[in-house]
Amino acid sequence: MSPSFAGKVVIVTGAASGIGRAAALKFAHHGAKVVVSDHDEAGGQETVRQINNLGGTATFIHTDVSQESDVQRLIQKTLDTYGRLDCAANNAGILPKFVPTHQYSTEAFDKVMAVNARGVFLCMKYEIPAMLQNGGGAIVNTSSAAGLVGMPYLVGYVASKHAVNGMTKTAALEYASQGIRINAVNPGGVKTPMAAAAAASMPQNPNAPDPHPIGHSAEPEELANAIVWLCSEEASFVVGATFAVDGGMTAD
Ligand SMILES: NC(=O)c1ccc[n+]([C@@H]2O[C@H](COP(=O)([O-])OP(=O)(O)OC[C@H]3O[C@@H](n4cnc5c(N)ncnc54)[C@H](O)[C@@H]3O)[C@@H](O)[C@H]2O)c1
Repeated sequence: MSPSFAGKVVIVTGAASGIGRAAALKFAHHGAKVVVSDHDEAGGQETVRQINNLGGTATFIHTDVSQESDVQRLIQKTLDTYGRLDCAANNAGILPKFVPTHQYSTEAFDKVMAVNARGVFLCMKYEIPAMLQNGGGAIVNTSSAAGLVGMPYLVGYVASKHAVNGMTKTAALEYASQGIRINAVNPGGVKTPMAAAAAASMPQNPNAPDPHPIGHSAEPEELANAIVWLCSEEASFVVGATFAVDGGMTAD
């Protein structure tokens, strides 16, 4: 059965690229009005163009998710434009270079925490009151397999994604009885610009097997499927889940 988002308003952050763009397109395909949020104006406008070409409805709102005033403006403009907020995919994120912990710069640590962890906190902080006005909603935060297990050379990223899973579970507990379901997706490797850029700084071992038991990385659409499903009524009993979509990477 295909989920329906007709009449629903959805925010997707980090929607100028990769998983966020795929999720924005899928929400639009299922009838949602989509707020495309990113700090990349050109990429965001391209996502809006692709949604419009499908016959969907979307608008771009420039947002740096690490900035409180930007996030406040994102929610206010969403309400001004479409009158309500039903769902949010808090997906914007960055992946700094692979560096051992003792050489990891404090600036890189602070930056990744500001975007990946503070950004998700700020988005939930301002999305939740808007959803309470409708009597409920659904939020999906994009974490990572690095939010479930340790990963060498990624101390800041791992800290930020563990924080996302912890905040997801905490907020889920607080708002479940008020009709807001809050969950996280935890991707393994996904074929996006982020993954391509990360590969350049990854310690190379040509003989290393693919880390995914399934044998390959995901397409962005495979993550979009999970995000849209978690926001849909079909996931009505899923609350506080840190849902691994990682080809089995964290199963053992
Ligand atoms: N690609 C992977 O292998 C992988 C694996 C696990 C988790 N993730 C997570 O998935 C999410 C999406 O990543 P992706 O792979 O699609 O990467 P991507 O680089 O293609 O997309 C990330 C988007 O976030 C935006 N962004 C970055 N900083 C921002 C900020 N401060 N404010 C607003 N927007 C900002 C970028 O402009 C970009 O459009 C991220 O949270 C990432 O950590 C990705």
